[in-house]
Formats: sequence, C-alpha cells, structure tokens
Amino acid sequence: MEKKNQSNGITRRRFVQTGSVFAASTIFLHLSGNKVFGALNSTQTENSIPTVTLNNGIPMPILGFGTHSLKGATCERCVSEAISVGYRLLDTATVYGNEEFVGAGIKQSGIKREELFITSKLWVDDSGYESAKEAFETSINKLGLEYLDLYLIHRPRGDVKGSWKAMEELYEEGKIRAIGVSNFEPDQLDDLMTYANIKPAVNQIETHVFFQQHNSYEVLKKYEVQMEAWSPFAAGRNGIFNNQTLTDIGKKYNKSIAQVSLRWHYQRGIVAIPRSSQKAHMIENLDIFDFELSKSDMQTIAKLDLNITQFPEWE
Ligand SMILES: NC(=O)c1ccc[n+]([C@@H]2O[C@H](COP(=O)([O-])OP(=O)(O)OC[C@H]3O[C@@H](n4cnc5c(N)ncnc54)[C@H](OP(=O)(O)O)[C@@H]3O)[C@@H](O)[C@H]2O)c1
Repeated sequence: MEKKNQSNGITRRRFVQTGSVFAASTIFLHLSGNKVFGALNSTQTENSIPTVTLNNGIPMPILGFGTHSLKGATCERCVSEAISVGYRLLDTATVYGNEEFVGAGIKQSGIKREELFITSKLWVDDSGYESAKEAFETSINKLGLEYLDLYLIHRPRGDVKGSWKAMEELYEEGKIRAIGVSNFEPDQLDDLMTYANIKPAVNQIETHVFFQQHNSYEVLKKYEVQMEAWSPFAAGRNGIFNNQTLTDIGKKYNKSIAQVSLRWHYQRGIVAIPRSSQKAHMIENLDIFDFELSKSDMQTIAKLDLNITQFPEWE
C-alpha cells in the first residue's frame, strides 16, 4: 500500500493492486440526463462488472451481492454461487449474524482475495472508539480476512464521532481500503463532515424505484460520496415484481422487472447490491449491461417515486 499526499486536509491512502481484475479498470461516470457513459480501459475483462472510482481512488464494482437474512449453509452456498457467476462485491454486516458464513462462501469459491470487494458494517451497539475497533477485529476474524475493502457505520446512532475516529485509524493502518456510512441523511452527513479528517467514500441508503432519494443523490454528488442502494428491489415490497410500468418497459428491451430496476440504478451511477437465494436470479441480475433505458423510460420510472421508505419499521 502506498500513501498519497494530503490534499484539502484529507489524508488518503491508496492500495497498490496487483493481479486484480480491478487493477486498472476505470469507469468514468459522467452523469447527464440520467445516463452513465462508461469508459472501461483495455484491461477490463469482457464480462466483468463496471466499477466506479471512489473518492480515495479505489475502484468499486457498481453491482454487487447483498446477504441480509441469508444464514448458515444457505448463505455459504449463495455467496459461493454469486462469486461463481461473476459477483465480486459482497455486502454483509455484523448485525446480519452471517459474517462467518459469508467468509466460508468466499473460501469455498476459491477466488483470490484481491479480486473481491468485501463490505461489512459496524452495528449501533458497537459504536464508540474502543468498541468500534473491537467490532472490526471480530468482523474480519469471522470473515477470515485480513482486511476489508469497505467498512460502514451501519446507522447514525450512538457515538458516531468516536466510531469514525476508530475507522480513520484502521484505514490509516491499511486494514480497510475505504470507509463510509450507511443510512445517513444529508444533515447527518453535514455533521460528520465538520470533524472528519477522512471523507466518507460511500453512503449506503435505501434506494429503489419507489424511493428514489433525489435529495440525497444531489448532496452525495456535491460531497463526492458514492451513493449505494440497499434493497434495490425494495425487498419485493409494494408489488415491485408485478409492477405494470416496469413490466411494460422491460418488454421493449426483452428484460425482466429486476433487470430494468437494476439498469435504472446503473444509469444513475448508483452502486446496487441485490440479494437472491436463486442462482438463476443471480445470473439474471448481472445481465444488465447490454441495453440502455431511453430518456423517456427513465422519466417514466421517475414517476414511480413515492418518496417514502418502504421499511417504516426500521425508522
Ligand atoms: N445498510 C442497511 O441498512 C441495509 C438495509 C437493508 C439491506 N441492506 C443490504 O442490501 C441488500 C439487498 O437488499 P434486500 O436483501 O433487503 O432486498 P432486495 O435485494 O431489494 O430484494 C431481495 C428479494 O428480491 C428477490 N429477487 C432477487 N432477484 C430477483 C429476480 N431476478 N426476480 C425476482 N425476484 C428476485 C429475492 O428473492 P429470491 O431469493 O427468490 O431471488 C428476494 O426476495 C441486503 O441483502 C443487504 O446486503 C443494507
């Protein structure tokens, strides 16, 4: 790992990557009229997933695999299958209670560690400087890993300032390649920015066609914080998989509702982490890079926004 210069008071570290699929892959996201213009360089393998470059220079796959509610042998199988069909970004969290199974699935896949992008999250009960450090060690031990690619504060609760300090130190020590947050509203992000020495690289928030998060989208762009969508299918709520608008749009491109939804995230430049326990769905969800939703279809999908969470029980 090499250390980059300090700029604007922000210390940044860059991992030197060797032999990784992501080593030299770059996507230049130019967001205009809800379109993403991706320029992948020549070392990008043909079937690999495009990456976004985080604000510390680290490439992150724009499509990954979620593991919420996957447990035990099912989790292990799903993670291993997801990797086998092409996913490289895996999302877990202490509170999911499945880090050891995610780790076992990774091991089972036989893939090289440096080809993966592994995210875990610090739970509310572990907030604070000392607790955050301990929780991080527990997470990597359960996962069987020496470092994480991304570590997020799961929710803006408890001693966020102490947690962030611990995460900054772990980042400086090279144990985490990028640090970020989850479920932070714009004002909570503003607050973090007042004391952070290292800017968060990512904010993972609920985002799907029924909750499009236009305000956060603009604020995150302003701060150069990558937006990541959790529950990109609203976990099936509000009848998403029977939605007539999405069905009609899908028919034009010979794509499913799931594929239209994920393509909509991609064209907004948002990282998405769909979960599936079925290999056929995992494959289907990766098959979104060979078509482009028209401007008018993007506008039609924009009208599906209810601008309200589909998970009120988590508020
Ligand atoms: N940071 C946070 O606070 C937070 C909160 C929630 C979630 N997350 C993360 O975000 C990830 C994704 O969210 P999620 O797990 O809530 O739900 P989701 O990805 O929005 O939806 C998962 C559901 O969609 C179904 N599905 C997947 N692909 C499909 C397809 N092609 N056709 C039809 N159905 C399909 C799955 O069923 P099958 O299994 O049958 O395919 C499953 O029931 C989580 O796993 C977790 O990693 C983070």
